[in-house]
Amino acid sequence: MKIATIVGARPNFVKLALLHKTMMKEFDCVLIHTGQHYDYDMSEAFFKEFSIPKPDYNLGIGSFPRGEQIGKMLIELEWILKEVSPKLVMVLGDVNSALAGALSAKILNLPLAHIEAGVRYNDMSQPEELNRVIVDRISNLNLCPTPTAASNLDLEGTDGIFTGDIMLDNFLHYSSDSWHQSAPLAKQFIYVTVHRAENTDNKERLQHIATALNKLSKKQTIVFPLHPRTKKMLEQFHLKLEFDVIEPIEYHQSLNFLQSASLVITDSGGLQKEAYFAGTPCITLDKNTPWPETLRSEANILISNLTCDNILNIATMRRVPFRPILSLFGNGKAVENTMILLRSLNA
Ligand code: UD1
Repeated sequence: MKIATIVGARPNFVKLALLHKTMMKEFDCVLIHTGQHYDYDMSEAFFKEFSIPKPDYNLGIGSFPRGEQIGKMLIELEWILKEVSPKLVMVLGDVNSALAGALSAKILNLPLAHIEAGVRYNDMSQPEELNRVIVDRISNLNLCPTPTAASNLDLEGTDGIFTGDIMLDNFLHYSSDSWHQSAPLAKQFIYVTVHRAENTDNKERLQHIATALNKLSKKQTIVFPLHPRTKKMLEQFHLKLEFDVIEPIEYHQSLNFLQSASLVITDSGGLQKEAYFAGTPCITLDKNTPWPETLRSEANILISNLTCDNILNIATMRRVPFRPILSLFGNGKAVENTMILLRSLNA
């Protein structure tokens, strides 16, 4: 069976890691990269780290306003999918490349599978939520990371199958070898990532975040790999971070930080979930989460009213590492379950 997988942004490459290599053993896999992310650190570095073969096609689209970016992807993808003529198109997660990939598949009437289906944030003004809802609605095979995601689809009248979360498969697979390869950092520190448009492109919110981090950095080490979007917006708003930041990092490095940090502060959907997998307390700079499972026992605390004081109050609360319930995310069997479903399509 020929499967065309369409990816484009950093979280997609992490989700590809184990799945793509496993699929390649049994299927004729064609990998299409839209070029949504193009910096070495945001794209090629992950292909190298996970030994994912070079994409068969790279559209090189790059950064544009949302509609224009998706539109440019659609134009190219229609031609490429016609040429490739796959039996199945696969998209992952909720990024713009997933929406463009899904639309182009369905425009050509090709069967579509969505990995990480049914996740809901319940606010359609969030770009990723719009992408998720549309992709799930038009996809033929919705593979859900959690039972909550499957029941979200059920409530919407769409079919979904609980397979587990491929990010947990990756976490379990790679965290064991990252522990062997590099010794965990001895120091306790706060691991921070911020990149969501809702935070970075709003001066007031970004200022609250920057001020809180500056204050925290006087007492604790902060490890903050800076996303290009955040870097650009800090400069544009003339906001200064009074501690050293680092460039975007590899997945293994991020796992190491997650496991050695005393606290994670993030607005990333993926990282708040990985903090949960690692048993590290997390603060999410957002009013809601697409991963309600992480809120159990205050493992993850949302900042619904984002102010500097609110961030500081919660960041200075005493919180201890906890034991995550991994069965909520499928116990690391998502790739195996996905392969069973894909084989059944091939039969
Ligand atoms: C996208 C995803 C988000 C994901 C994030 C991970 C959507 C709607 N959002 O957001 O869910 O968590 O990726 O990073 O798809 N830029 C660079 N170099 C790059 C890529 C981006 O400098 O390689 C800068 C550009 O200024 C660009 C901005 O980052 O305009 C935003 O990039 P974009 O791809 O639009 O979205 P992300 O914020 O990365």
